[in-house]
Amino acid sequence: MEIVRGRRSVRAFRSDPPAREQIETILEAARWAPSPHGRQPWRFVVVQSATMRLRLSEAMGAEWRRQLALDGQAEATIEVRFRKSHERITGAPCVIVPCLYLEDLDSYPDDERQQAETIMAIQSLGCAVQNMLLAAYALGLDGGWMCAPLFCQATVRAALDLPPTLQPHALIPIGYAAQDPRRRLRRPLDELVTAWL
Ligand SMILES: Cc1cc2nc3c(=O)[nH]c(=O)nc-3n(C[C@H](O)[C@H](O)[C@H](O)COP(=O)(O)O)c2cc1C
Repeated sequence: MEIVRGRRSVRAFRSDPPAREQIETILEAARWAPSPHGRQPWRFVVVQSATMRLRLSEAMGAEWRRQLALDGQAEATIEVRFRKSHERITGAPCVIVPCLYLEDLDSYPDDERQQAETIMAIQSLGCAVQNMLLAAYALGLDGGWMCAPLFCQATVRAALDLPPTLQPHALIPIGYAAQDPRRRLRRPLDELVTAWL
């Protein structure tokens, strides 16, 4: 419970990078996540080089600007949001991109069951990421979760030269927290447990 309750989302990191063994431990934690049929429908891309982080951020930023403009957001707002996101990606010493990999899952003739299979895989990807975040925290590191790749999968795939079988689902920046973040409150348990029958 100490690790579970201690973990927090960190959005600004010191520049000193985690050691390679620490990143390997974090990935190892992901590997042991539960998955549908034990098929492990996730792959991980580690982006540590500053050049690649910049490339990724610039590619995603261009697409995001386009989407925000379509939403009708003011140019000044777009600029602020873009700069914050850019700083988060380029300022983190290591970024892990968890990708959904559906090739080994069961196939069904009907859409409904196929969709359930895909949802299970996404649930499992969440388990893998949570394992990573807990392992990072246990190592004295911190992580965050950026959902942006989900909104521009083709852009992320192109920037990182990924095959079409990988669906980028998130960016997980990993590093040492620059400062203690504000803690988010939780709803009381009796509000979350709607029945105990
Ligand atoms: C699926 C998912 C997507 C998230 N996407 C983002 C995001 O894009 N940007 C962000 O700053 N935090 C994101 N978060 C982190 C949440 O904001 C954070 O977990 C929540 O506010 C609770 O704070 P805590 O993690 O510090 O306990 C995401 C979390 C999840 C589970």
